[in-house]
Amino acid sequence: MNYNKKTIRDVDVAGKKILLRCDFNVPQDKETGAITSDKRIVAALPTIRYLLERNAAVIACSHLGKPKGEWKPKLTLAPVAERLSQLLGQEVIFAKDIVGEDARAKAAALQGGQIMLLENLRFDPREEKNDPAFAKELASMAELYVSDAFGTVHRAHASTAGVAAYLPAVSGLLVAKELEVMGGALNDPKRPFVAVLGGAKVSDKIGVINNLLDKADTVIIGGGMAYTFAKAQGGSIGKSLCENDKLDYALDMIEKAKKNGVQLLLPTDTVAADDFSNDAHRQVVSTMAIPEGWEGMDIGPDTIKTFCGAVRGAGTVVWNGPMGVFEFDNFAAGTRAMAQALADSGAITIVGGGDSAAAVEQMGFADRITHISTGGGASLEFLEGLELPGVACLLDK
Ligand code: 3PG
Repeated sequence: MNYNKKTIRDVDVAGKKILLRCDFNVPQDKETGAITSDKRIVAALPTIRYLLERNAAVIACSHLGKPKGEWKPKLTLAPVAERLSQLLGQEVIFAKDIVGEDARAKAAALQGGQIMLLENLRFDPREEKNDPAFAKELASMAELYVSDAFGTVHRAHASTAGVAAYLPAVSGLLVAKELEVMGGALNDPKRPFVAVLGGAKVSDKIGVINNLLDKADTVIIGGGMAYTFAKAQGGSIGKSLCENDKLDYALDMIEKAKKNGVQLLLPTDTVAADDFSNDAHRQVVSTMAIPEGWEGMDIGPDTIKTFCGAVRGAGTVVWNGPMGVFEFDNFAAGTRAMAQALADSGAITIVGGGDSAAAVEQMGFADRITHISTGGGASLEFLEGLELPGVACLLDK
């Protein structure tokens, strides 16, 4: 896939009316609706400031949650407009609808240097259907489309892909940075290129493991999915997580690694627990011999040494998925050691969104990582090498 796309730096934005797709899908407190992390809003600020400083009139839009085409007041973007306004230090005009009378009137009156935000795009069922008429209505309010919603580029929706049929389409600074760093790692990595994959399920990472075995020098597999690999090789894994329908796949990947000359590292020891809780009894056992009634919760000390050793010598490291149940402090050592190894490595380090990004942030290593992706599903699909509709639709450089 071609990641060499035009950005806002390649086109004239001065004084233009711009439809800016952001990913303001922020986590919220279930009871109060308060925004619990404004990271995604902060991540959009460089692009917004760049445009406003050049006297563009910015019509920002986003989805929030999964209202499934219904008007759900709890999922209004109004609190995002308020937070964005605080962060920018200027008014963010909020439209009560998406392409209705209020939005159209406010967009028409919007002056250079001003910003407005449309209501939640997914309140309209036509958004997720990528309805051309809806895309056209969105596009009709602006002269240029800017995609800065990296977290949503894997969706072929009206506001992420459809609009590009009606407006010249370029990326914002966030999408440009994500493409540059992650695209660079995949297409032309500084070697050795080490991929660290974790998380609970093999099935979530099938495409990623497969693609990275064609690109990386070393693939490390930890987290819950390692037990499926252990069982596939004849190990006893007690009551650890296992996807029995993925045993053959695991063996295929072990074969593929051999064929491609890729070093595939799997855990050799495991911190097992007799219960899925922080206070459970613990013991370090061989990953291939986890006792009956016990389950693997983290990588063990020998595995930490091997995995972190591989990361230390790397030129590029991509990490997606924790090494264990890091939400429980007693089983966070593997994930913490991995975060530390990335931070100390001197390599180009990229952490995919989701749990591993949360771990790196919680554990205080974020400022020593080259790039933490704002995309969860999007960064996974990126690592799978899939075509991303929200990127494919942008103008080539
Ligand atoms: C995300 O949070 O991963 C993006 O905002 C995409 O959201 P979605 O999974 O609801 O499409």
